Amino acid sequence: MAAATTIVSGGSRGLGLALVERLLARGDNVATFSRSGSARLKQLQADHATRLHAEIADAANSTQLQRFVAATVGRFGRIDHCVANAAVAHDGVLATLSDAAIDDMLAINLKGSIVLVRECVRQMLLQPGPSAPTAVGAEATQEAAQEATRGSLPGGSVSSIVVVSSVVAMRGSPGLAVYAATKAGLEGFARSLARELGPRGIRVNAIAPGFLETDLSAALSPTDRTRIVRRTPLGRLGAAADVTGAILFLTGPQAAFMTGQTLTIDGGGSS
Ligand SMILES: NC(=O)c1ccc[n+]([C@@H]2O[C@H](COP(=O)([O-])OP(=O)(O)OC[C@H]3O[C@@H](n4cnc5c(N)ncnc54)[C@H](OP(=O)(O)O)[C@@H]3O)[C@@H](O)[C@H]2O)c1
Repeated sequence: MAAATTIVSGGSRGLGLALVERLLARGDNVATFSRSGSARLKQLQADHATRLHAEIADAANSTQLQRFVAATVGRFGRIDHCVANAAVAHDGVLATLSDAAIDDMLAINLKGSIVLVRECVRQMLLQPGPSAPTAVGAEATQEAAQEATRGSLPGGSVSSIVVVSSVVAMRGSPGLAVYAATKAGLEGFARSLARELGPRGIRVNAIAPGFLETDLSAALSPTDRTRIVRRTPLGRLGAAADVTGAILFLTGPQAAFMTGQTLTIDGGGSS
């Protein structure tokens, strides 16, 4: 059986990098991009030269996204899963937030994710399933054609999209209103797209992590950090590794009948 090909946006650090490592360990071909690289990503490229494709590209640039997806298909021949992970969070109460900060979050978190998913979906709809039956006679040819439009993987699994949201989309957080708006937008996008693509065998889900120990949350004040930890039933901030398992599940055969859902991974909630 051919290896699945999975795209992860923002794979240079944080959750994206941890996910790239887990997907490589699962045996996937992995394609990722970010605006800058990292030493760890370079090391992974050296260690997995034939299975990891990494590029410098900006999620806010649709042309670069289209080129990245085309390059991934050129390299691995297909796309089975897409994880829209890249995002930025400009902290600040709305009254003080600049147009540039608002535009940046909308362009990267929301539009960038939507365009990346659209490019992946276009490919998924075109490609045959890896185990499409060899056509013998008219009936078999028709079956093969149907299979070819379903984006199916062997073993009953199907192609999938995962968008990375945040608990602040549902729960809200002062200073993160615009960031929360982009994440709430992504969750609505995922729910509707799940209905649109379910009949074509493509599942679409979201994950909503709580605060994670990554660069994105580095701006948390010590007071806020202590408050969040105190209010979290599991008593700590999350790690990237706490979230990668859920994404592996959502992109794997165990989640074959799951679409249109948001999985919250937040240690039990911090409100
Ligand atoms: N950390 C948290 O507390 C937390 C909580 C809930 C949800 N999340 C979500 O989890 C996801 C990952 O967050 P993280 O904590 O891992 O963030 P992070 O450590 O800041 O990493 C973000 C990744 O996205 C890339 N990226 C950002 N802007 C980009 C752009 N314009 N084009 C291409 N790549 C871009 C970054 O690389 P470059 O900067 O080099 O481009 C980096 O690889 C995000 O969707 C975030 O909203 C995070």
